[in-house]
Amino acid sequence: TNTATYKRGAFILFEGCDRTGKSTQANKLFEYLQSTGHSVKLWKFPDRTTPIGQTINAYLTNNQELDDKAIHLLFSANRWESLPKLKNLLLGGTTLIVDRYAYSGVSYSVAKGLDLDWCRCPDIGLLRPDIIIFMDLSIEESEKRGGFGEERYEKKNFQEKVCKSFSQLKQKDDDDSLWKFLDAKQSVERLHEQIVKISLDLIENCSQLPLKEDLWK
Ligand code: TMP
Ligand code: MG
Repeated sequence: TNTATYKRGAFILFEGCDRTGKSTQANKLFEYLQSTGHSVKLWKFPDRTTPIGQTINAYLTNNQELDDKAIHLLFSANRWESLPKLKNLLLGGTTLIVDRYAYSGVSYSVAKGLDLDWCRCPDIGLLRPDIIIFMDLSIEESEKRGGFGEERYEKKNFQEKVCKSFSQLKQKDDDDSLWKFLDAKQSVERLHEQIVKISLDLIENCSQLPLKEDLWK
């Protein structure tokens, strides 16, 4: 067959609480892969550029109030609306580096007291990442990094709950081999080296595999 020549991109996801270095590492990985000739794209959720994303932004910046379940569904809709684009990129051989996804979606809402199984429902059937690089850092350490900002959720008490719901979610995940916990206390450079190695192996290994449109199925 000619499937041997088919190469798709890898879906590399960064997850974790606020101020754990996700964006820093996602950017560094993007620059590295781009400079070494890979076809690669950086994508961030929430995508605040769409109409749904603008409502999410108004909510996060405390300019709009929304029911907890309503905002949960908007975060999910914000992923569904980008699915066709992300799928085409992966199928066309572009590797995606994604900063937050449905795992943040569930963890932040569970931290507010919503039911975990209810929270997972709207994201069922989305693309499944090929790896979840989880930036693991204690709240004490993340606070030292210049403190939290002004946005909704950037408070110590709440972040503690988010950390707990992330580990609850991982335990309940049918595919917990996807999760790669990294000690985010290490230096930016050391983390970057590990992430590059993991990513290059992954890009090689999943290039022949079909896309997985079965998140939490
Ligand atoms: P950001 O700081 O990465 O831009 O994300 C904004 C906030 O939105 C962050 O506190 C995490 C939260 N969030 C959710 O509550 N649900 C979601 O589905 C996503 C993607 C982010
Ligand atoms: Mg933030």
